[in-house]
Amino acid sequence: MYRILVIDDESSIRELLKDFLSSKDFEVVAASNGEAGLNLLKSEKFDVLLLDLMMPGMNGLDVLREIDSEKIDTTSIMITAYASVPTAVEAMKLGAFDYITKPFVLEDVHIAVKRAIAVSRLQEENNRLKKELKKKFSTHKIMGNSAPIQEVIRFIEKIADTDSTVLVTGESGTGKELVAKTIHYNSSRSRHPLVPLNCAAIPKDILESELFGHEKGAFTGAVNTRIGRFELANNGTLFLDEIGELAPSLQVKLLRVLQEKEFERVGGIKTIKVDVRIIAATNRDLEKAVKEGMFREDLFYRLNVIPIHLPPLRKMREDIPLLIEHFVAEISKRKKKEPPEISHESMYCLSEYKWPGNVRELENLIERLIILKEGDKVTPDDLPERFLEKRKASKVFTKAQSLSSDGVDLNTMLDEIENNMIVQALEMSKGVKSKAASLLGLNRTTLIEKMKKKSIDFHSKTD
Ligand SMILES: Nc1ncnc2c1ncn2[C@@H]1O[C@H](COP(=O)(O)OP(=O)(O)OP(=O)(O)O)[C@@H](O)[C@H]1O
Ligand SMILES: [Mg+2]
Repeated sequence: MYRILVIDDESSIRELLKDFLSSKDFEVVAASNGEAGLNLLKSEKFDVLLLDLMMPGMNGLDVLREIDSEKIDTTSIMITAYASVPTAVEAMKLGAFDYITKPFVLEDVHIAVKRAIAVSRLQEENNRLKKELKKKFSTHKIMGNSAPIQEVIRFIEKIADTDSTVLVTGESGTGKELVAKTIHYNSSRSRHPLVPLNCAAIPKDILESELFGHEKGAFTGAVNTRIGRFELANNGTLFLDEIGELAPSLQVKLLRVLQEKEFERVGGIKTIKVDVRIIAATNRDLEKAVKEGMFREDLFYRLNVIPIHLPPLRKMREDIPLLIEHFVAEISKRKKKEPPEISHESMYCLSEYKWPGNVRELENLIERLIILKEGDKVTPDDLPERFLEKRKASKVFTKAQSLSSDGVDLNTMLDEIENNMIVQALEMSKGVKSKAASLLGLNRTTLIEKMKKKSIDFHSKTD
């Protein structure tokens, strides 16, 4: 049931509207002055407000102004005996949806209310769609359909709009900075700055003043007062990259800011309060650093409120073709080049590669290919040597199919095939030997014997 609030100082009008609209199946509440009406608006939700313009004390325009500044969500219809165009225009400017003049025909009130409800529903729907679109657009850039990355994306959606501290971990090039940006731009802080600070890139002795700023004359060279990153990030997000490299003395200082949310500039005595969300990132194993005494345990727990671990690319292999397609499209557009076609065989080499540099390595390779092979087909010959190891192994099969007039060394060839198959089966079964054996149609003991003979070493935790 839609709810209507009537604010009018004349009791006869309040009663008339209340009776009539109730008979039309609306829930109607009435207030006799602006102040009382506003209090109701602040504590309850009304779909439509019928508001008298001329009232003693707070008049209709004052109420509209408050509704606007308090961002109260309702649709207002003015009721006025003084149908002067300027006041009506002013009311509309202040956000009123419509106005009716006294004396009114009740049916006109009914029509105006129904129209107001229909339009506000449309607006609400529109806002919801806009919000959804924004959400989709801004998490869109983290690509990947594989289970580990999908889990990360879903988790980010859940935690983005909280104020909790996030610790992003993962190997180099796995997208830690991308995650920090996605979180910030999907939070209510998105209109305030995302301020990055790379703890490894800034010399130790100036890092403190970078973080907290300094007062004029705090040290030699401090000719002016300078605001630090914490102050710059006020109301926004501070991204502390490579946090694992932070010197012990600064770890203590950072811990204090995280706990107290206040600090002093270097050389300053004034305590500065800030409202900053922290996202920290590292490719180091911080827990190990804690055990080794390199990183403060208390700081680690302060940072690790929401841990996000990014999978290395080799753990999301099924996404490699998707990422390639994404980067080919994006980079060729940016560089205004024709996108090259990636041959099947090249795609095979790229999906089998180990990718120690993760997504960044992939992105850089694609950029290089686009510059070198504009609009052309990329074949394995265009790929750097390191991508071709698997291909060499698979060549054995091609050779095996056709015997050349030079003949072959059958034993060596069979041996190579056997090695190759065993390694592949072990990789596929993540080192679980019983599984690998069944993939090869062998029993487990035979497989282990062969591995020993060939000195193939492959351990799994479960075997
Ligand atoms: N899942 C992904 N989808 C799309 N682009 C990605 C993805 N992961 C990473 N990237 C891109 O790869 C590049 C490297 O990512 P980023 O700089 O975030 O990595 P990082 O983890 O911060 O690396 P480092 O530890 O070396 O600083 C960026 O251009 C980023 O946009
Ligand atoms: Mg980074």
